[in-house]
Amino acid sequence: MDGNGRWANERRLPRVAGHSKGVEAVRNVVEACAQRGVEFLTLFAFSSENWRRPADEVSLLMRLFIMVLEREVAQMRANGICLRIVGDTSAFEPRLQKLIQQSQQRTAGNKRLVLTVCANYGGRWDILQATRAMLAANPHLAANPDSITEAELSRYLAMSHAPEPDLFIRTGGEQRISNFLLWQLAYTELYFTPDFWPDFGAQQLEAAFESFRQRERRFGRTGAQLVTADQPAPDH
Ligand code: IPE
Ligand code: MG
Repeated sequence: MDGNGRWANERRLPRVAGHSKGVEAVRNVVEACAQRGVEFLTLFAFSSENWRRPADEVSLLMRLFIMVLEREVAQMRANGICLRIVGDTSAFEPRLQKLIQQSQQRTAGNKRLVLTVCANYGGRWDILQATRAMLAANPHLAANPDSITEAELSRYLAMSHAPEPDLFIRTGGEQRISNFLLWQLAYTELYFTPDFWPDFGAQQLEAAFESFRQRERRFGRTGAQLVTADQPAPDH
């Protein structure tokens, strides 16, 4: 979700106003996805590098995060949204950590859409923490590194509750991954749009889906093989 600051700048508003408008876009996109039958939506809200921003912007983003959790979880619960927060949440103030825990508990049984919010998340952090957790749980693997499989490591990734994404959308015009789901994006279709995040809604989502429909997903095979194969990839 990129472009909140520029959206505000264009209107001579403080960056803060862009972030508030960004929250509205989140609400719209979550509902649009649920209505379109998307089962898993993962939003990159705050990266492990975003702490480098000016202190007042960081503290505003934290306050916004708290506000959203306080005000929106009841609605999510009613709308069938299961909320998951992934990232190194231990860096957040205790009040926010507690809210995160409660929000996850309150929406845990929901099945309509799994909404994962990545907060203080980084793809490299995730691979590293998964490796550490895997070795801590299976000390014998350190002596037999050849026996470690991709499937084994994936079990410890922060996103182990969700399948690998089909579609990645980045708003705001930059064409890079910026340390998002590095492991999981291996075969994901990438979509970049110049629209700023506050301007992204159901219509823009539809354009991204339309682009996705045009893609030929080969998973390493040739185009000719796809014509005969029922399943393009045995393991993805
Ligand atoms: C939102 O957009 C992303 C967050 C970290 C909340 P930005 O704040 O990066 O907006 P730009 O890139 O300055 O326009
Ligand atoms: Mg940005």
